[in-house]
Amino acid sequence: MQRLSLTLRQDNVPLDLISLIKTILAATKEISFRVSQAHMSGLMGSTLDENIQGEIQKKLDVVANELFKDILLESGFVKAISSEEEDTSVAGNAVGKYIVSFDPLDGSSNIDINSLIGTIFSIHEAPEHMDANNPDMFKQSGDKQVCLGYVLYGPATMLVMTTGSGTHFYVLDRTHGGYLLVHRNVKIPEDTQEFAINMSNQRFWQEPMQNYIGDLIAGEAGVRDKNFNMRWIAAMVGDIHRVLSRGGIFTYPTDSKNPNQPHKLRLMYEANPMSFLIEQAGGLAMTTTGRIMDIEPTSIHQRVEVIMGSKNEVETCLSYFK
Ligand code: AHG
Ligand code: MN
Ligand code: MN
Ligand code: MN
Repeated sequence: MQRLSLTLRQDNVPLDLISLIKTILAATKEISFRVSQAHMSGLMGSTLDENIQGEIQKKLDVVANELFKDILLESGFVKAISSEEEDTSVAGNAVGKYIVSFDPLDGSSNIDINSLIGTIFSIHEAPEHMDANNPDMFKQSGDKQVCLGYVLYGPATMLVMTTGSGTHFYVLDRTHGGYLLVHRNVKIPEDTQEFAINMSNQRFWQEPMQNYIGDLIAGEAGVRDKNFNMRWIAAMVGDIHRVLSRGGIFTYPTDSKNPNQPHKLRLMYEANPMSFLIEQAGGLAMTTTGRIMDIEPTSIHQRVEVIMGSKNEVETCLSYFK
């Protein structure tokens, strides 16, 4: 099996970006270890604090965030970071070439049940003319990401990453401490019989989404020519990993559960990096009005509706909104 650094060289990734990627991966290896030791280190359960998203933080959310933030800001490669767990962006090296957005632990509600969690990261070039303290640096569309991916702390610790030359799967080999390439240029099947949505929000969805999911559930007994199965891991990293591995449609649609917050998932930390991976693998990543990666962000903690996965199924879903 091929080492990650060789794959990056084959994909013509610039040397300074390779150095930043290695820094990020060093952080993920430490998080992977700390997650596995959390019971023994008193790191299970919640803190008493709420983050900027209005969520009670888990102890591991905080630990992973501090670790990721410190290692990136100390590296010298990074002009600023922004994180799901930080109120605003944090300045690093004024002449750093890159900015990094991240969700240090995705799937927090799975921590205490020893279920799937992961880390999502996204790298953009730093605008030279802006001050390192200026969060506006992060208002760049998903299309401008130069490298992004996630690490899944599952039965195997896996890295799924792209630098724009295809979505590749790697696995952490604990014997030598590095990531090895296990699947180059992953492709998502265009058709699927699997969907992922939090069904408990059904009554809060818009009518077209109610109709679409209703037709999936009706399967052959309704207007579709096949039956569907449902999966929900409650960690976007886990659900998207399944979609990349064997196809499917994943959606967190607009809902009216909380009128001030019609969307759940975050554009910078979740939707944009996952969209890039999905599109590089031949899938679609959309809102009901257009491509997620075309969105020009207005704030760093912006939320967005998400419909992504197997091409033909995403198109079918969107046809209900026309
Ligand atoms: P996070 O743990 O980083 O806050 O993200 C959780 C997100 C996402 O990973 C997942 O798809 C979704 O929230 C789960 O939502 P429900 O609580 O509605 O299942
Ligand atoms: Mn959270
Ligand atoms: Mn998340
Ligand atoms: Mn998170």
